[in-house]
Amino acid sequence: MNRKTFLNLGAKASLFFGLTPAITSCANTPEKNTADAEQIKESLAVAKATGSALSLTANPIPKVRIGIIGLGNRGSVLLNMHEWLIKNDHAQIVALSDLKEDKVNKNNDYLKTIQKEEASLYFGSEDAWKKVAERDDIDLLLIATPWKYHTPMSIYGMENGKHVACEVPIAYTLEDCWKIIEVTERTQKHCIMLENCCFNGEELWILNMIDQGVFGEVNHAEGAYIHDLRKHLLDDVYYEDQWRIKHHQTRNGNFYTTHGLGPVSFYMDIGRGDMYDHLVSMSSKERSLSLAAEAQNSKFNNFACGDMNTTLIKTKLGKSIMLQFDVHTGRPYSRLNTVTGTKAVHQGYPSKLFINEPELKYWGHNWLKDEEYKAYREKYDHPLWNKLKQQISDKSIGHGGMDFVMIYRLIRCLNEGLPLDINVYDSVLWSSITPLSEASVANNSTSIQIPDFTGGTWKNKRKAEVLRTI
Ligand SMILES: NC(=O)c1ccc[n+]([C@@H]2O[C@H](COP(=O)([O-])OP(=O)(O)OC[C@H]3O[C@@H](n4cnc5c(N)ncnc54)[C@H](O)[C@@H]3O)[C@@H](O)[C@H]2O)c1
Repeated sequence: MNRKTFLNLGAKASLFFGLTPAITSCANTPEKNTADAEQIKESLAVAKATGSALSLTANPIPKVRIGIIGLGNRGSVLLNMHEWLIKNDHAQIVALSDLKEDKVNKNNDYLKTIQKEEASLYFGSEDAWKKVAERDDIDLLLIATPWKYHTPMSIYGMENGKHVACEVPIAYTLEDCWKIIEVTERTQKHCIMLENCCFNGEELWILNMIDQGVFGEVNHAEGAYIHDLRKHLLDDVYYEDQWRIKHHQTRNGNFYTTHGLGPVSFYMDIGRGDMYDHLVSMSSKERSLSLAAEAQNSKFNNFACGDMNTTLIKTKLGKSIMLQFDVHTGRPYSRLNTVTGTKAVHQGYPSKLFINEPELKYWGHNWLKDEEYKAYREKYDHPLWNKLKQQISDKSIGHGGMDFVMIYRLIRCLNEGLPLDINVYDSVLWSSITPLSEASVANNSTSIQIPDFTGGTWKNKRKAEVLRTI
């Protein structure tokens, strides 16, 4: 299914593209600095001409009123990340929702310690969350439920006039990817996937160095989600109704693309001057999860998903990306975070930097020494990370600060009426690699064309929004 086929289904709606309040409200965008303002203006012009949701802005919302759906492991962390924003009057949690009453109550007990206003509570049925989406005193829905709900909940939210911020991945079928694009373009509501790794200190530092030319031309990158999840997958209670391991029984490919691909896509200007073109994907055989399941006498066995999936992506401008997914094998966590350019190379876990300085007059083979590395780290740290140091260090949870920076940016951009750092095209593109990898794996690793969800607006070259300091 390509863009034309899918979006033709909503052809009537497209008559309204470009005439919506969100697009016409661009005059309200505060001009923080000339470069940012110029970029926003150009992007909006492209958006207006194409009906796109690129660089979408909405009227500023001085205090963002939020409903959270899903209060398991992740929803509780996301709620916690709002403490500073609530205390500084930038946000208010209006409603909490989960299938389970005890999870809602537990999170509400915490909320009462950080917010004066009481939240309304919704629980007890699979559809109770719809009442949250239908309220007219909510601006933003935060979704942290199992994967199968992400697309329907996001769409229902936008159809009911809400901005939506959804956990990863926002979709895992191509049809759902296109549905999200269609609804976002028609409703002109923000639809952001909460890809927190894009807001990590190390990734922001690398992006800043790339922007300032330290890497020269970037030609290759490697990202991954390598995380031994066997204990959690097999546990009876860690995931509600053990929803996550069920995906491993029936599907084979990369189910968790976005932690690796989000930052790498920013490094490579994907959607901002370059675009994915095609991919090939291969999975290894499966053994490690079966062995762990056997050892624990688990009711689960016969897993379809290989232990390691490797996907290679080529971009329109000739860059290559290697993306890996392994949550079965016992070993240390890694997102690889490798990026190679004509002037520098970074490799993560642990972070090291190589600088190919012309004045060296030799072909170097060594990573920078600690002191040299530190100097680069200090010189090129993203100003945002420095600005938020205090709030980040106050957080005992939230993946070392990146979760806070992500939520801070989301709420502050909505407060100011600015385009968000991750737009709907990023969200869908990064997620679409899941079904495309599954298709390639199922067909002898055949090469698969990656749809252009942006309708050609990727050619509009611009900086990643997360480089803005507001
Ligand atoms: N970005 C990250 O670092 C990160 C980390 C962990 C999880 N996640 C993502 O967060 C999401 C949730 O994962 P989790 O670990 O919190 O799982 P979980 O099972 O702990 O939480 C899911 C919650 O959703 C609730 N739920 C299920 N159906 C519902 C419905 N119809 N209405 C309302 N609530 C419903 C469950 O009761 C449960 O409390 C997943 O998409 C996962 O990929 C992201």
